[in-house]
This record gives sequence, structure tokens and C-alpha cells, in this order.
Amino acid sequence: LAQTCAWSAGAWSQPCQVHTSCSTSLEGLKQQFQWLVSGHPWTCCWKRDLWVVSGPLTLSSLGTNWMLEILSLIRSDGDPGWVCSVLNWDRVPWVEYGPGLEAARKYPPPRLLCFHLPVQLFPKSLQRSKAKIIYTLRCPKDVVVSLYHFSRIVRLFKDPDSLDCFLEDFLSGNVLYGSWFHHVTGWMGLKANKNIFSITYEELQQDLQGSVRRICHFLGKELSEEQVAAVVENVSFQSMKGNKISNFSQMSDKYMDHQKGEFLRKGICGDWRNHLSEAQSQRFDTVFREWMQGSRWQFSDQS
Ligand code: A3P
Repeated sequence: LAQTCAWSAGAWSQPCQVHTSCSTSLEGLKQQFQWLVSGHPWTCCWKRDLWVVSGPLTLSSLGTNWMLEILSLIRSDGDPGWVCSVLNWDRVPWVEYGPGLEAARKYPPPRLLCFHLPVQLFPKSLQRSKAKIIYTLRCPKDVVVSLYHFSRIVRLFKDPDSLDCFLEDFLSGNVLYGSWFHHVTGWMGLKANKNIFSITYEELQQDLQGSVRRICHFLGKELSEEQVAAVVENVSFQSMKGNKISNFSQMSDKYMDHQKGEFLRKGICGDWRNHLSEAQSQRFDTVFREWMQGSRWQFSDQS
């Protein structure tokens, strides 16, 4: 599909109808995305944007919003004014989602844009362009646990019956936007591309300051010691949890059941050990090995 989509130069600013329906199949999603681009040419400017790519929408829980906060603060040289005044989904629009596309059109390039779709739906021309892409990953067992809790509070998602059922759905890709394994293996196939930078949640936890510097280096934006320190301070779990602009407390009750829990839940590595049984962990390892056969790629909740 990426090859057949005509991602020609055009204008973001051209009228573009917003398509908000959700699709439960990859095929439906492809159609939705094709619909978004076909007949509505975008400007060359999107090729200069910074794309933050993470797991499929329902397979979030990777620290995406943490990354978006880091990038917002890097962009504003550590000044928290922007992250304390503009809601995170307006600051870094999710472009595969209708209102996100609308929000993206408000900003001049280079913009911060968030995207959850598989690499097969990402235009090849963009991969060869100057746009920079940051791909965030997290120990997938922690993703399962975090996402299980997230699914309970987000009304759009099916309320998971039990962690056991949810684990099976996750492993079989029987979730909106498809398989986490498919997504990760697809995107990691591009990791040699110098416009793509991948980083894990665990690396951020282990050395946030160093990670911020590496991200700045990738972006070609050097910050002073004080500015890096300001970024680090404002993206700490406690700072974000206390910032109503970033903690999703402003998300309408229509979409999120705030009584059931908070988006910024625990913010730690290795929480899966408190939730998955030995049998569930082994079941996960079996499927993980099947997908990652031949790859030296391993996940750990340490880093
Ligand atoms: P937990 O549910 O394990 O607490 P996403 O943004 O991709 O949906 O990821 C959400 C996960 O990232 C949640 O994990 C959330 O607490 C964690 N997170 C968000 N901001 C964080 C921060 N500043 N520090 C550490 N973890 C953070």
C-alpha cells in the first residue's frame, strides 16, 4: 500500500475531510489511511516534520506520551510554558486519527507528529526524506500489563475480561490495529536508516539525561546543561502526573473512565513481574521466540 499511495507534493492546508471511524481490521485500517491520503495531497513540508512512531494505537503503553513530552520540552528549550498550556494531543497530533489530522494542519512545519501505524502503511518517500522518525519501544511484558490497565479506563476499548484473556488477544494480534510483534519487527527492519532513531522506555528510565542528549543530537538541536536539566525535571513521572495538561485528566469522560484509574499509572520497569504468572510469562516467551526467530533482538525490563 505504501508503494501505491501517491504521496505527492501538495498542501496540508487544502480542505481535507476528517474521517473518524475506527477499523478493527488491518485491511479496514489500510483503507482508512489510503482514504486520508488519496485525493488530498499534502505539502512537502511534512517531509521535514518529526514523526514519533510507537506501537499501534491500542498497543500504546510504551511511553509514547513520555517521549512526546520530552520532545515538546526540547523544542521549547526546556521552557515548560508549552507543556503547561497546550494539551498533549494538540501539541503532537496523532495524524492517523481525524481530529489529530485537523490539529496537525494548524501548525507550521517542522511539526511534531505522532503515528501508530505499521511500517507497511508509512510512505516510502517519507522514509527517504529528511523527516526524522523516533521509534519508542518498551519491554513487551510491561506493555501487556500497562495496556491491560489502560484498556480498562479507555471507554473506546473493549473492557478486558481478565489478564489471561487479554494476554491471548495481545499475543494473537486480536486487538485494534493488529499485532505488536508485526509492528515492531516491521519498524525495526528500518533501523539502519539514519533518519530513524529508536530508544526504549528502559533506556529513558536508566539514564534520562543521557537519553535527552542523544535525542537532541539526533535532532541536531544542542541544548545547554541548564536546558537539558529543565527538560529532565519537567518530564519526570511526578511532574507529568501533576501536570493536568499532560496527565490526560482533561480527556473527556466520554472517552476515559477516570474513576477506574489514571493514565500515568506506575511508570516503572518490570511491573509485569507483579502481574504475570510463571505460566503466562512462559506463554509470552514462546510466542516472542516464534516471532523473533533468527533475530538477535531481545527485550529486557532492565534496558
Ligand atoms: P504504566 O502503565 O506502566 O505506568 P503510552 O504513553 O505509550 O500510552 O505509555 C503509557 C505508559 O508510560 C504508562 O506506563 C505511563 O505511566 C508511562 N509514563 C508516562 N509518562 C511517564 C514518565 N514521565 N515517566 C515514566 N513513565 C511514564
